[in-house]
Amino acid sequence: RPGQNHHPAGPSTPPSSPPTQSLSVQRQLYERDFPLYKQPVEVGHFSLDSERRFFNDARQLRYYVEPEKSCPNFDLRDGYRGRFVKRDDRVKEKLDHILRWILANRSKLQSKDTAASSSPCALGVDIVTWRGHLTKLLTTPYETREGWLLAVTRMGGTLYISEVETEAARRDRENRTERHEEMMYWGYKFEQYTCAGPRVCNTTKQGAPPSKRHHEDQGALQTDDAQSLPDPGGVVNTNEAFCTVVQTRLAEHRLLFSGEVDCRDKDPKAPSPPANYIEMKTSLEISTPKQRSNFYRFKLLKWWAQSFLPGVPRIVAGFRDHDGVVVSVETYHISKISQLIKNETNCWKPTVCMNFCCEFLSFVKSVVTEDNPRVVHLFSWDPHRDVTYSIHSDSQYSFLPDCEFHRYDD
Ligand code: A3P
Ligand code: MG
Ligand code: MG
Repeated sequence: RPGQNHHPAGPSTPPSSPPTQSLSVQRQLYERDFPLYKQPVEVGHFSLDSERRFFNDARQLRYYVEPEKSCPNFDLRDGYRGRFVKRDDRVKEKLDHILRWILANRSKLQSKDTAASSSPCALGVDIVTWRGHLTKLLTTPYETREGWLLAVTRMGGTLYISEVETEAARRDRENRTERHEEMMYWGYKFEQYTCAGPRVCNTTKQGAPPSKRHHEDQGALQTDDAQSLPDPGGVVNTNEAFCTVVQTRLAEHRLLFSGEVDCRDKDPKAPSPPANYIEMKTSLEISTPKQRSNFYRFKLLKWWAQSFLPGVPRIVAGFRDHDGVVVSVETYHISKISQLIKNETNCWKPTVCMNFCCEFLSFVKSVVTEDNPRVVHLFSWDPHRDVTYSIHSDSQYSFLPDCEFHRYDD
């Protein structure tokens, strides 16, 4: 049904016409110039402790300790049976931690230009969400297996986007094999072999500009740095997390999102966050040209999208064998990944990812016009289909507090 479809890059819809009903995901529609994506700026951070409690500080931020040998022989299976506390993934936290961060830090967000302008948007941003939700949007044009559901609510002029678990994802989660459960531990175990404390308490200097504040925050770590080493004999607890909160802009969309960060560069002279952050990954060792091609075409797409969004410049990858032993470690620079994949046939393109995400956000803005925390527009996508949506009032999908939360001027 042409005419019913939201046309990417087409002429903008006149304000009087009703919003279109669907958005196409076809790659060729998004093959155009790379959209403006401003350098992400860290506006804050928070930590979640071993019991998933929120702290408005960097106590869970670890630093990277380079393995001594290029073939480190880390055993990723070690500790799975006796030294592993797994986060309860039946609990859906939605945007709760980000909302909590916003409530504690809203003064930092009301920038001068927002306060001075007549913008009806109290927060000064168009979109609030998790980085992981944006990663899913970036990879959608190339995804053939897993669909998604994204709940969107407009409140105080800002659109809040929170994922809803699909029926298929719930089934997969409830029916994981023992092998799969164990392999999900391996990534965290690799982090334990390569990351070390100390974990500091809140040293944030109120009122200091963000860049200065972080230097002071992380500068305070210097004295302990020399003594602290990774502790492979300790417990892996996946409740623990350090999350960065960044602000950026994708074309006309002002974004505020949070993402978990694995560790930072140990060097106190390293640039300020997010440029000193490092993403840790594991993957099966590459032995054949076919494996290399699959790694570039599928895995690097997800790795790139996840780190590019918050401006994390480096990935440290541990390549493991089938028994979970790390046989080599390699660094990938995000800025070099597009060069790396260029000669791959049928490969993904960063511009398609970013243009699709941008178009999806425009589609959401045109559809979600009612400013009401009790109303959810549920956007739904399945592979080989268009994005569609349904509307729900006071339903199981509501995820924002129905209170005075949005009155930031109180
Ligand atoms: P790997 O990155 O080595 O796969 P992250 O890399 O995002 O920091 O996540 C840390 C680890 O969590 C992953 O390590 C993996 O073990 C596990 N993990 C994350 N997302 C997952 C998913 N969708 N399915 C299974 N495991 C996941
Ligand atoms: Mg992580
Ligand atoms: Mg990681």
